[in-house]
Amino acid sequence: MNQIPSFTLTLTLFSLLSLLFLPRTALAVDENFTICSVPRYCGKLNIKFPFFIEEQTEPRCGYPGFKIHCRNKTIPILSLPDGNYTINDIFYQTQSLHVSKAERDAVCSHSIRNISLPEDRYYLDARTSREMVLLFSCNLTSQWSWELSKYKIDCAGESESNSTLALFKDDPELNFGSGFCGERVGAAVGFDHRGGGGVEGLLNRGFVLNWTASNCSVCEGSGGWCGFDYKSYHFKCFCPDRPHAARCSPAAISFVSKRTTEITRSSLTVKRHRLNPEGDSYV
Ligand SMILES: *[C@@H]1O[C@H](CO)[C@@H](O)[C@H](O)[C@H]1NC(C)=O
Ligand SMILES: *[C@@H]1O[C@H](CO)[C@@H](O)[C@H](O)[C@H]1NC(C)=O
Ligand SMILES: *[C@@H]1O[C@H](CO)[C@@H](O)[C@H](O)[C@H]1NC(C)=O
Ligand SMILES: *[C@@H]1O[C@H](CO)[C@@H](O)[C@H](O)[C@H]1NC(C)=O
Ligand SMILES: *[C@@H]1O[C@H](CO)[C@@H](O)[C@H](O)[C@H]1NC(C)=O
Ligand SMILES: *[C@@H]1O[C@H](CO)[C@@H](O)[C@H](O)[C@H]1NC(C)=O
Ligand SMILES: *[C@@H]1O[C@H](CO)[C@@H](O)[C@H](O)[C@H]1NC(C)=O
Ligand SMILES: *[C@@H]1O[C@H](CO)[C@@H](O)[C@H](O)[C@H]1NC(C)=O
Repeated sequence: MNQIPSFTLTLTLFSLLSLLFLPRTALAVDENFTICSVPRYCGKLNIKFPFFIEEQTEPRCGYPGFKIHCRNKTIPILSLPDGNYTINDIFYQTQSLHVSKAERDAVCSHSIRNISLPEDRYYLDARTSREMVLLFSCNLTSQWSWELSKYKIDCAGESESNSTLALFKDDPELNFGSGFCGERVGAAVGFDHRGGGGVEGLLNRGFVLNWTASNCSVCEGSGGWCGFDYKSYHFKCFCPDRPHAARCSPAAISFVSKRTTEITRSSLTVKRHRLNPEGDSYV
């Protein structure tokens, strides 16, 4: 008869002790998780992994090579080797962004520079972007070159012996045309021909650029914030308990989620991962 109350007492005591100690450990949320959970904006664009804003976001919340500059606190600028681009939109799902030259290109002034992408970070997907080639100083006075005039851009002060041509890179006449021209410059454009403005309009409307970096969706889906550890030079998934290699462990999340509201955005997806083992085995 004595056994039951003492058991209940032990249980009650245990619960009381748990209440006293558990919240304290739970509230010791990892510093990196807290830092990277702060939403950052540049203008109306949400800037998150792999991007980080120069002098505003901690580099550890982004990925090396994805620093952006927030011009005038409103315009996100991506600096590529050939110049600065305005980021018009970011599609985190498909790891791509829509960019256009920050300083409008004046094709006729020959100031346009060859597009140059850091190949380990960015690439053009032929399904969304096309490469255009501009040929300068073309001499179209010979009888062989007359058919090239359909590619001519109207530039003030240019003559038949000094014209500018615009062709798509996959145009079979490109090689033939190059023979009559001087400088050759590559640029990227989209498929949207509405909006007019000819070649210059097409160039200034920008294009979609895809990026390569650790896929953030598994970490994010497990309730973490993607980031980078500059010491081990590896991707990290910042979780409430500590940084993990790939995703947060289900136990840590369900435990802390009772007490913090920060991770509610992922409380549904966490359930899916509950059956999976700790995802620390891969990077
Ligand atoms: C910066 O923004 C302010 C107001 O939003 C605007 O008046 C100013 O012209 C902008 N400066 C530049 C350099 O764009
Ligand atoms: C590109 O933008 C950065 C940051 O705004 C600026 O410091 C740099 O001078 C710009 N470069 C060019 C070529 O405009
Ligand atoms: C990232 O991973 C998720 C889940 O594995 C997948 O659905 C998505 O397509 C991946 N994204 C890219 C750009 O590879
Ligand atoms: C253009 O080509 C024609 C015919 O080949 C040649 O006679 C002429 O000198 C060239 N003009 C220039 C400016 O190179
Ligand atoms: C061709 O035209 C461009 C710009 O209109 C000019 O800068 C260049 O000197 C011209 N070249 C020749 C060979 O006339
Ligand atoms: C641009 O790149 C092409 C090859 O991609 C090269 O042939 C051309 O000389 C370059 N133009 C300039 C102006 O550097
Ligand atoms: C590149 O981005 C576009 C537009 O968002 C997307 O449709 C395409 O699937 C992406 N390419 C790859 C290889 O992920
Ligand atoms: C935060 O992350 C950095 C880089 O990964 C690491 O050096 C630091 O120890 C982490 N802080 C905590 C509290 O885990």
